[in-house]
Amino acid sequence: MPKVTFVQFTGDSRTVEVPAGWTLMEAAVQNGVDGITAECGGGCACATCHVLVPPEWAARVPAIGPAENDLLECTAVPRTAQSRLSCQIQVSAALDGLTVNLPERQS
Ligand code: FES
Repeated sequence: MPKVTFVQFTGDSRTVEVPAGWTLMEAAVQNGVDGITAECGGGCACATCHVLVPPEWAARVPAIGPAENDLLECTAVPRTAQSRLSCQIQVSAALDGLTVNLPERQS
């Protein structure tokens, strides 16, 4: 099962196992990882599941779709080149070892 690490703004980190097909957001919420609010439950409508994907992983995560691209303009912490919405990233074996950083806040 792929393992993904969430790194809090404070530097604390948590590694969780993610069943294939789950999104990063589901992995965080189901494992009680702080820092992912996910108010819309994965509907790509709230921008409270903002994560930062390091450049070395950018080519391996699924591409940004138009709805995600638009919504990334509404994150609480301004969007960066590494910004993604974790509900739009489905985890596969190719993402085993992925580490994402969490922004300072989601709202
Ligand atoms: S959970 Fe609402 S946009 Fe991702």
